[in-house]
Amino acid sequence: MTVHFIGAGPGAPDLLTLRGRDIIAACPVCLYAGSLVPEAILAHCPAGANIINTAALDLDAIISHMQAAHAAGQDVARLHSGDLSVWSAMGEQMRRLRALDIPVSVTPGVPSFAAAAAALGSELTLPGLAQSVVLTRTPGRASSMPTGETLTNFAATGATLAIHLSVQNIAAVTADLTPAYGADCPAAVVYRASWPDERIIRGTLADIAGRLDAEITRTALILVGPALAGEGFDESCLYSVDYDRRYRPQSAESPWAGWSHGDG
Ligand SMILES: C[S@@+](CC[C@H](N)C(=O)[O-])C[C@H]1O[C@@H](n2cnc3c(N)ncnc32)[C@H](O)[C@@H]1O
Repeated sequence: MTVHFIGAGPGAPDLLTLRGRDIIAACPVCLYAGSLVPEAILAHCPAGANIINTAALDLDAIISHMQAAHAAGQDVARLHSGDLSVWSAMGEQMRRLRALDIPVSVTPGVPSFAAAAAALGSELTLPGLAQSVVLTRTPGRASSMPTGETLTNFAATGATLAIHLSVQNIAAVTADLTPAYGADCPAAVVYRASWPDERIIRGTLADIAGRLDAEITRTALILVGPALAGEGFDESCLYSVDYDRRYRPQSAESPWAGWSHGDG
């Protein structure tokens, strides 16, 4: 018996991995974070599966369901939105399960920042503009931020920021970021990326807050950084005609000459 943690993706049911789908289909018990995991994904559960929405449960209750499945020898599919590596609460569940000697596995999912970038049609790391993406958030009612992980500190790097769980604080976010990025720095909010009611709001640090309406108070990402402009960047060396590389040696003297070619 294993508890299989599965990243259920950002919302669209077909943004689930094939591995995740197959594990769900093989588990007689499914626990899902109902606030963000799309119900359509539950259609992969086998007939008669015990399907439990954990949105209203506390950690003890969730672990109790897993213990009961363990005692019955039943595998569990544990679904969280997006990917499990960020803000999934997988860590605390896993710590309890390890203490109980209950085996676990982890299957990654499409994170919401990637779905938001796709909705924008943006590469977040454009040569010469940004080569790092910071996945961060602002403090919430239930979570403080470690010292040092401030927006001002991240802004000092000039990286592309993907700010989660913070759209309700957008005025404070833009105020913190403007000194480093400038008021005309591109900013975007993607609400419910990949869901049927997805919305995209583009602007700058100066005006993005004023462009949001009352509907956008949660399940949205704020993206900020010069890369969002999608212009003013260098071409990468990777596809440059005269860049000597393993798959495209430029001369017989190239260290890559004689390597077998391929693309992929
Ligand atoms: C509890 S975190 C979950 C993050 C998730 N594990 C991931 O990989 O993206 C919830 C936050 O992620 C962001 N989020 C999740 N799904 C989203 C979506 N479909 N569109 C935009 N933002 C989303 C929002 O900032 C939301 O407040």
